[in-house]
Amino acid sequence: AQIQKGKFAHFMSKEIFDQTESVVNTMRGRLNADNYSVVLGGLRSQLANIRRSRRIIFSACGTSFHSCLAVKSIFAELCEMPISVELSSSFLDEQLPVFRDDVCVFLSQSGETKDTLMALQYCKERGALCLGVTNVVGSSISRETHCGVHINAGPELSVASTKAYTSQFIALTLIALQLSQDSLRTKARREEIIDGLARLSDDIKKTLALEPELKRLAVEKYKDCKNLIILGRGYQSATCLEGALKVKEVTYIHAEGILAGELKHGPLALIDETMPMILLMPKDRHYDDTENALKQVTTRGGRPLVIISENDNSPVFKDLNTIRVPQTVDALQAIINIIPLQLFSYHLAVARGIDPDYPRGLAKSVTVA
Ligand code: G6P
Repeated sequence: AQIQKGKFAHFMSKEIFDQTESVVNTMRGRLNADNYSVVLGGLRSQLANIRRSRRIIFSACGTSFHSCLAVKSIFAELCEMPISVELSSSFLDEQLPVFRDDVCVFLSQSGETKDTLMALQYCKERGALCLGVTNVVGSSISRETHCGVHINAGPELSVASTKAYTSQFIALTLIALQLSQDSLRTKARREEIIDGLARLSDDIKKTLALEPELKRLAVEKYKDCKNLIILGRGYQSATCLEGALKVKEVTYIHAEGILAGELKHGPLALIDETMPMILLMPKDRHYDDTENALKQVTTRGGRPLVIISENDNSPVFKDLNTIRVPQTVDALQAIINIIPLQLFSYHLAVARGIDPDYPRGLAKSVTVA
C-alpha cells in the first residue's frame, strides 16, 4: 500500500512523529517488562556462538553508523566484551583483521548499502559470525547474514533517517540485554534499562510536544546561520554526530558534532560570540564535565542553546535558551535527545526553503561503492 503523509507536510516530519509507535514496534513480542526478559527469535540459533565470541565488530554507514556508536558503551558494559565500531567504507580500506571467533554486526536501514555489503562479504570470507540488523525484510543484508534482527520501524521514505535511528538503537540494546541475560552482575542495570524502555514511548511523546519551541528557535535564531556546532560527551557523543548529520543533510548548513572532551584539543579556537552552538547536557555522570565545557564556551562569548533534563534548575542556564526534555535512564537518554535535533533540522530546512525529503545530491539507499 502506498504510504501517505497524512496531516504532515513531509515524510520527515511524519517519520519523526511516528517514533512514539515505531519504538514500541521494535520491542513488540521481544521484550517482556514484567519478568525482565528479552527474546529475539532471529538470534536464537546463534546465541551460544555469539556469547562465546571474543569481540563484537559493528559496521555501518551514515546514521546507522551513529546508532552503533550510541550503544557502544552499554554493549561493552552489559556484555563485558571488546567492541569496535567501524565505518563500512573504511573496513576494506584498512583491511581490518577479522577472525573466526569474531561476531560482526551489520547495521543498515535499507539492507542494501553497498559499502556495508562489501564489509559483510569481507567478514564472511574470514569465517566470522555475521549478524544483520535491518529495517527491510528480505533485503540483501538480511539474506546474506547468518542471523539477525529486523528493527520493524515501518517504511522510512525520507532520505534523512529518523525513526530508523531510534529503532536501531533499541534493537541493539535488546541484543545486549539478551546476550547478558544470565549475568547476575548486570541484573539491576538490565532491569533499570528495561523499565526505561517500557516508559520510552511516553517520554518520546512529551519530547515531541517541544516542536513549537524548536520551530520558533529554528526560524527566529538559526535560519541564516552558516555554521553550527553540536557539543556533548559520554552517552551523548553519538547524538552530537547524528544531530550534525541531520543538519547537514537537510539544511545545507555546515554543522559539526564535537565531543566536549576534545574542545581544548583544538575546536575551542572556533568559539566566539558569533558561533552558533547546541549543547547536550542531561543529568548523568558526565554532567560536571559537560558544565565545564559550557563554561569554556560561555567565557569566550558563546551562547549555546542547551538541551537539559526537565528537572534541572541550575542557575548556569539563566541567560541561555534551553530545551527541557524528559529524563530517562542514562544509557537511553540519547533516544530522547536526538528528537529535538531531528525537529530542529526539519524546521530549519523548511524555513530555508529546502524540501527535507529530497536533499540535493543524496539518495536514500546508496547501492554503489
Ligand atoms: C545513505 C542515506 C543515509 C543513511 C546511509 C546508510 O547515505 O542517505 O540516510 O544513513 O545511507 O544507509 P543504510 O540503509 O545502510 O542504513
